[in-house]
Amino acid sequence: MFRRKPENVKNSIIRLPEFSYMKSDDIYLDSSCQSPRPQPVIDSMSEYYKKFNACGGRVKYKWGQKVDSEVEATRELVIDYLGLSQQDYVCSFTLNTTYGINTILSQLPRDKYAQVITSDAEHNSVFLPTIVLAKRLGVNRKLLNRNDYGGLNYDKNDLNRAVIVLNSTSNIDGRLLVNLKQIIKDAHDMGGIVIVDAAQTVAHFHDILKGCGADAICFSAHKMYAASLGVVVIKKDLLKTLIIGLIGGGMVIAVTEQNYTLHPDDLASWLEPGLQAYAEILSLKSAIEWLKTVRPNGQAPPEYLEMLSKKLFDGLSEIPGLEIFNTAPSSVISVYSRKIDAHRLATFLSASGIMVRSGYFCCHYYLLEKLKMPPLLRFSIGLHNTEDDIYQTIEVMKKITKG
Ligand SMILES: Cc1ncc(COP(=O)(O)O)c(C=O)c1O
Repeated sequence: MFRRKPENVKNSIIRLPEFSYMKSDDIYLDSSCQSPRPQPVIDSMSEYYKKFNACGGRVKYKWGQKVDSEVEATRELVIDYLGLSQQDYVCSFTLNTTYGINTILSQLPRDKYAQVITSDAEHNSVFLPTIVLAKRLGVNRKLLNRNDYGGLNYDKNDLNRAVIVLNSTSNIDGRLLVNLKQIIKDAHDMGGIVIVDAAQTVAHFHDILKGCGADAICFSAHKMYAASLGVVVIKKDLLKTLIIGLIGGGMVIAVTEQNYTLHPDDLASWLEPGLQAYAEILSLKSAIEWLKTVRPNGQAPPEYLEMLSKKLFDGLSEIPGLEIFNTAPSSVISVYSRKIDAHRLATFLSASGIMVRSGYFCCHYYLLEKLKMPPLLRFSIGLHNTEDDIYQTIEVMKKITKG
């Protein structure tokens, strides 16, 4: 369809070589779902499969020993990357953010908590498990409002013994939970805990998690340039209160006819029943190492994304009839047209090689039930994107929204 290069496209920024395997006319703008994997990440998985394809945590032979040391190094790197203390936190691996949140919530003890609190603007992976948790504990579930700047509106006195679960970055418009540290402090003062859904935070905005004191942080490695994998970083104090009910191989040091003893020195294993996704875990180490050093266009990743986001935000803002959901530029921008359904726009964009999301992005309560929005079109930018991708997208959007 509209694949002609517009006159004003500047090729001033070339794609990072780590993504040179991507076709130049594929414009992938769905990094909020899954980021593309840079070559070193792909290579790290291949290295595992070719050189030491063994399980971890169980064997004495050399491939398995290598897996153990790499997995341990990844756990430590994750905790460091989040600016948390190795003494206080444990890093465990799971399937994805959703599974991590469910794993914690489903094993919280009864009788310790008086209420469940979340916000109106949560992904279903927080929204739904908090409904289930409140029912299981037989307590109230309270929905607090997120303001336009991302902060949570609340009164400290209303946080009594609460399990609070919140995203630290919105997957609709990139809003950051700017008062995260204060919420955690207040929740702790009131005898509660805070579990953070950091799915959209970890790739580029993890600074807001540094030293935040959250009781647990759940995220998906596949949204931070690594392979498909979930990560739970949890305070040892909270982990020790869980009633472990998801259980199996690799977690115990003794089993009797009717009982068992969890491994006392390997707390991370308490959330890891069975064999793990070793290649994926190793890819996370590689992704973090890559993120720490990559300089797209000579810039730090957040600065680079900010530059592209502003261009996309400004370009989309000038298109007549297009409404911007965001209040500010962000690497995640949602829009809608008053005339053309978002799913049709996504299909038109796809015909021009531009891959974006349309719909409610698993935020059905907030977008559909509360705000009564039509389906949205979401552009989410990653480090593989270039200035050219942004210009092409704006040009095609101008054409297809003319109606
Ligand atoms: C804010 C947020 N939380 C949770 C999730 C769920 O992530 P996953 O599907 O990897 O579990 C997503 C996915 O897009 C998300 O954006």
